[in-house]
Amino acid sequence: MIEGPILAIETSCDETAAAVVEQRRVVSSVVASQAELHTPYGGVVPEVAARHHLGTVNAVVDDALAEAGLALADAAALAVTRSPGLIGALLVGVATAKALAYAARKPLVMVDHLHGHVCAVWLDPVALDPPFVSLVASGGHTRLDLVLDYEAPVLLGQTIDDAAGEAIDKGARTLGLPYPGGPALESLARGGDPAAFEFPVALSGREQADFSFAGVKTSLLYRVRDLGAEAEVRRADLAASYQEAIMRPLAERLVGAASRAEVPAVALGGGVAANGRLRALVEEHAAGAGLRVAAPALSLCTDNAAMIGAAAQFTPAIPWPEFVGEDAIPTAPTGGVAA
Ligand SMILES: Nc1ncnc2c1ncn2[C@@H]1O[C@H](COP(=O)(O)OP(=O)(O)OP(=O)(O)O)[C@@H](O)[C@H]1O
Ligand SMILES: [Mg+2]
Repeated sequence: MIEGPILAIETSCDETAAAVVEQRRVVSSVVASQAELHTPYGGVVPEVAARHHLGTVNAVVDDALAEAGLALADAAALAVTRSPGLIGALLVGVATAKALAYAARKPLVMVDHLHGHVCAVWLDPVALDPPFVSLVASGGHTRLDLVLDYEAPVLLGQTIDDAAGEAIDKGARTLGLPYPGGPALESLARGGDPAAFEFPVALSGREQADFSFAGVKTSLLYRVRDLGAEAEVRRADLAASYQEAIMRPLAERLVGAASRAEVPAVALGGGVAANGRLRALVEEHAAGAGLRVAAPALSLCTDNAAMIGAAAQFTPAIPWPEFVGEDAIPTAPTGGVAA
């Protein structure tokens, strides 16, 4: 366990983030989102993301330290997201963290972004201790892990095609909503009937922990095409039914996996965990199974650096100056969440 404050940096996708975390306490957390920059393109443009991180990262780090009332010299260690993500974006964070750690003669922790999403519930005030089953549903990943200890979550299942967030974003686009689609789809769905349309739930009807969201996405496309002009009038119902077809299997398989593993709690993480309908469904199913539900604050679900500071406590620190040869890795190592 690293004693003292950790300065953590996250730049894997389109959020430039830095945080100071001391044990379970988030002392400061700054997130500069580039989402608006990518809106005209309907998705993240890797080159634009990397260039923007470059212009923003130093100011974001300074803000995180200032909010914590600390100087770089006060940090016990630095931590940075090493993988997975967009290579150009990751490189900005890794180069920045290496330079700062080198100059300040501090150890550096190279963190896996998904491990960060799992560890968000370790932080106060949730402060969840293992054992539990974790669902991380984000823009690029959807997976269930059995967490017996935070060092090495064990993969139970994952999506075999699209991530839940990807299906949300693409479905939102089909319904004419702007990028990023998650929050927009959720608010449109609030005025609709989740039972108005039936969308297929893939891989249902058996005990398993994998997911598939490619079919439901295509099904929405066909439904909108078949409805023609009526689709415009039924947008809220389409959004609510589509959201339901994604959130229901997430909630059911999370709770099913936890019951089979005989653990007392389930945890949520990743941007899709910000969804109110998913939270309600998980609460409902978990209550029936007698499980505790641990969900981080919304700001700790979407990308942030505080969760990277949390995962740093469960990842070996590399002493100064041995980390100078460390690199960013665009794809996650296969197997468990942690590298
Ligand atoms: N309220 C919401 N309802 C549903 N989905 C949401 C909501 N808020 C955000 N999302 C979705 O969360 C995703 C972003 O999550 P996150 O920032 O964790 O992903 P990422 O970092 O891009 O991907 P990864 O973590 O897999 O590398 C997007 O797909 C977005 O639409
Ligand atoms: Mg993420």
